[in-house]
Amino acid sequence: MKVELREVWKEYRMGQVTVAALKGVSITISRGEMVAITGPSGSGKTTLLNMVGCVDKPTRGRVLIDGEDVTPTPLDRLAPLRLKKFGFIFQRFYLLPTLSALHNVMFPMLKAGVKRAEAQKRALELLDTVGMRERATHLPYQLSGGEQQRVAIARALANDPDIILADEPTGELDSESGRVVVELLHRLWKDMGRGVVVVTHQSEIASRCRRKIVMRDGRIVGGR
Ligand SMILES: Nc1ncnc2c1ncn2[C@@H]1O[C@H](COP(=O)(O)OP(=O)(O)OP(=O)(O)O)[C@@H](O)[C@H]1O
Ligand SMILES: [Mg+2]
Repeated sequence: MKVELREVWKEYRMGQVTVAALKGVSITISRGEMVAITGPSGSGKTTLLNMVGCVDKPTRGRVLIDGEDVTPTPLDRLAPLRLKKFGFIFQRFYLLPTLSALHNVMFPMLKAGVKRAEAQKRALELLDTVGMRERATHLPYQLSGGEQQRVAIARALANDPDIILADEPTGELDSESGRVVVELLHRLWKDMGRGVVVVTHQSEIASRCRRKIVMRDGRIVGGR
């Protein structure tokens, strides 16, 4: 599995003003590599992840998934692909507050049409992977930030994605919880062979990634 951006521009129109968040970015990201994206606030990191994960459309340029140009495909028609190929992890954990850890992890599987019993079995395995099985029945508010993020990682793995996109996943965590999350992301890459793209402000995290992309003002200015 491979995602390729070719000369991607993303402009946001705000009344009379147009903000160019990406200015001709070309990059290829494949399963099996771990990539750090760094750069100042507002440089386009989140926008870039949204383009790679087919969450949003470029204003100009092309997005190819395994060589197939998906640029003209409407976003809603890309939903099944998004659900299967990508796992998303955010700075704020975005667990559904009324669902237990277990049901949060089951949720994307049920959306993808997996049978309930099967989804539950797999969700428990995934919670085990992130060391959260004994917290399966807890609601998000009954978990610490670091624990919620581990559940969010399990959820990101629900549909066995090729590429995990993590947007400042340790941004709200204390350093010890952050370390656990970074370890888990590493395992996804090293032991499970996934692609991991992590946006981070922390140089310790970036330094552990073989590939580092630096963004500034909507462009890639370092790494490839
Ligand atoms: N939905 C939007 N509407 C208008 N402008 C936006 C929108 N999303 C992002 N922008 C603008 O695009 C630029 C890039 O934003 P982006 O969120 O990609 O930056 P970032 O590198 O992720 O920053 P941070 O480190 O603060 O998260 C910024 O100038 C931002 O204000
Ligand atoms: Mg951002």
